[in-house]
Amino acid sequence: MDKKLLTPGPLTTSLSTKEAMLHDWGSRDQKFIDLNQSIRDSLINLIDGENNYQCVPMQGSGTFAVESMVSSLTPQDANILILINGAYGQRMKKMCTYLNRNTIEYEVAEHEPHDMRKLEEIIDNNKQLTHVFAVYCETTSGILNPINDIANLVERKNLSLFIDAMSAFGALPLSSKDVTFDAVAASSNKCLEGVPGVGFILMKNEVIEKAKGNCHSLSLDLYDQWVAMEKNKQWRFTPPTHVLAAFNQAIAEHKKEGGIEGRHKRYKNNCKIICEGMREIGFEQLLPDDLQAPIIITFKQPNDPNFNFQKFYNALSDKNFLIYPGKLTVADTFRIGCIGNLNDQDMRNTLVAVKEVISDLKINL
Ligand SMILES: Cc1ncc(COP(=O)(O)O)c(C=O)c1O
Repeated sequence: MDKKLLTPGPLTTSLSTKEAMLHDWGSRDQKFIDLNQSIRDSLINLIDGENNYQCVPMQGSGTFAVESMVSSLTPQDANILILINGAYGQRMKKMCTYLNRNTIEYEVAEHEPHDMRKLEEIIDNNKQLTHVFAVYCETTSGILNPINDIANLVERKNLSLFIDAMSAFGALPLSSKDVTFDAVAASSNKCLEGVPGVGFILMKNEVIEKAKGNCHSLSLDLYDQWVAMEKNKQWRFTPPTHVLAAFNQAIAEHKKEGGIEGRHKRYKNNCKIICEGMREIGFEQLLPDDLQAPIIITFKQPNDPNFNFQKFYNALSDKNFLIYPGKLTVADTFRIGCIGNLNDQDMRNTLVAVKEVISDLKINL
């Protein structure tokens, strides 16, 4: 039996999603071309973006998708404000450094959201700004950033908003009817519960139409990928066929579950069980409930000298549960993910295993 992945991805996937990879696909064959188009259309549908948005998939992990969004959809003279409260905001900054884009940052602590008044002040004081980059759920801590408030402000200031929604897309609401944004990047192997290997970018028609010549890289050039895919509906270079077949199945299962709303409901319930159960055992959660996204939960490592993360991890792994190390720079933590093909019983089984491990390792909480 596979271990349960209580991580931010790759995640536990359904058997039917894994089974979708049991076939070989001709990348220039009509059946595969139709499958690819169906994925693109479904992703646009998830943001209610029909007619206004385009979807361009990009091979690779999520970082490839974010980097192709940043490099292809901003001109070389862009002036970008990056909102940072964790590693993925930092990563966008690093990308901009590689790409020689002008940036300023508004950084707050990893357990805090950005202050909207301060954000407005920064925008007002930096008239050169053209873009704002934000992370929806900052997976570093699991914090839910206020994307609607950010989007409203950015729209009011007439700037272009790009969102890294990697760990949020498919489970947290992001309708283009409610939230104004120019581009969003995410990937197959998070809340849509596909397997890793492909990301995607959804961007407004006019944003991709004027993106020619921005990108420094042929492989990451979204404009080139889009033009080629629009021409004959095929990929420029070898597509990750099996990954896409699994993704197509995962998207069908997402729809069957009730789309974003249905998935959000299950994850929220998973999250509640883990948070309440871990607190009951004696662990301290990093974030208050109102800042906690139902994606991944950060817990502080206990002070007891018998607590050693690697031993705790190994003991849970022996019981078939894989948790995740912490990523905070300021405190020793670990994380438990509540996304993927996992239900309330899996969460309760996790808590039973945690209790047994605490007792076996003689950890005092
Ligand atoms: C918000 C966010 N952005 C970007 C990434 C990078 O994705 P990958 O590790 O697939 O490159 C992740 C990964 O967890 C993420 O959570």
